[in-house]
Amino acid sequence: MTRLDWTSQHARVLKGSVRVPGDKSVSHRALMLGALADGTSHIRGFLEGEDTRATAAVLQQLGVRIDAPADGERIVHGVGLHGLRGTTALLDCGNAGTGMRLLAGLLAGQTFDSTLVGDESLSRRPMRRVTDPLARMGARIDTQDGLPPLRVRGGQSLQGISYTLPVASAQVKSALLLAGLYAHGETEVIEPHPTRDYTERMLAAFGWPIDFAPGRARLSGGHTLRATDVDVPADFSSAAFFLVAGSIVPGAELRLPAVGLNPRRTGLLQALRLMGADIRVENERESGGEPVGDLVVRHAPLHGIELPEALVPDMIDEFPVFFVAATAASGKTVVRGAAELRVKESDRLATMADGLRALGAFIDEVPDGATITGGALRGGTIESHGDHRIAMSFAVAGLIADGPVRINDCSNVATSFPGFLELANGCGFDLRNT
Ligand code: S3P
Repeated sequence: MTRLDWTSQHARVLKGSVRVPGDKSVSHRALMLGALADGTSHIRGFLEGEDTRATAAVLQQLGVRIDAPADGERIVHGVGLHGLRGTTALLDCGNAGTGMRLLAGLLAGQTFDSTLVGDESLSRRPMRRVTDPLARMGARIDTQDGLPPLRVRGGQSLQGISYTLPVASAQVKSALLLAGLYAHGETEVIEPHPTRDYTERMLAAFGWPIDFAPGRARLSGGHTLRATDVDVPADFSSAAFFLVAGSIVPGAELRLPAVGLNPRRTGLLQALRLMGADIRVENERESGGEPVGDLVVRHAPLHGIELPEALVPDMIDEFPVFFVAATAASGKTVVRGAAELRVKESDRLATMADGLRALGAFIDEVPDGATITGGALRGGTIESHGDHRIAMSFAVAGLIADGPVRINDCSNVATSFPGFLELANGCGFDLRNT
């Protein structure tokens, strides 16, 4: 992949309507359930990111026909629950933890062996959190000391289990539910704190009997999935960069249409409002079983908060940009209970602390969080460590720094937010390839 570095500079004014791309979590799941369904599913609003394209390519390697009639559209020709075909080729999930962990569950129930691999960052991410509970169901998955590649042995007879997750993780929950489709008896997942429930909602939409409520989900094997069309809402996690940008740049006013507002995703909205942000939700409606709305953000003075720990899972992907908001706030912002940030695409507590310090911010990193003291940012150079959300967060930081912010290694932005640079510049950022 060609290396890409950015420079982000002070914005004069941020105005306009920003249509962010489709939700990553929903796009992955729509492909997987569409592939296992009987019939043809049409996905609209599909995220054209490298992560979701990698999942599509894996399913194609497994014998699923997926047509792309237009940008943001996929037609998945389902092969039925038992219709996937094995391949000896490596199945490359790229940068996508969601792709790899969900596919591990899905592949554990097949008759054939498969090998899931990922890029350098994914190859460092912990997989025992899925392989251990899957092994309890009877799956056989070899790891490299708990890391990818995952060698998934086919032909195992899976048995449903009741499993209480040690950490809140929608990926682990989803992997178990997908394996549960192939298991004898009942698979039940109980969470320490409710996480995003797209797998549960979508299984129900595809006609699989499932019983779920915040914090738990239960299903039995032995049913079938019926093809269903899926409308993917805009990704709240992508909207997040503009919510913070609009909040911290004087005079800003941005509109973000048709953003997914699943309550398990909108923790940042609550956190920013606690800090004094002016964000309104308009035209709240339902689309494809998901709440969506238009978000309107205007600049407002922010003040530091002690972030309620209960919000952490509901804004787990938004911390990098939340930390930028905290530097723009008066006083201290305290984050605790967020140790999961250390095992994302990068160690996000360390990469944000290093990057913000390089811009002159005061940030005290602790094992499960950080304390950030608001204050002016200066220009400087930061390393994204190939983490898409770190790169985009520092593009936002550049809006309020008093010198250019050079961000190294931004090519992975394409994993979740293709076209970020153009969209950002379209509403007033000054963001350049350098
Ligand atoms: C996701 C779950 C979260 C999130 C990731 C997407 C999903 O990961 O960080 O970006 O689609 O299920 P964890 O399950 O590891 O918390």
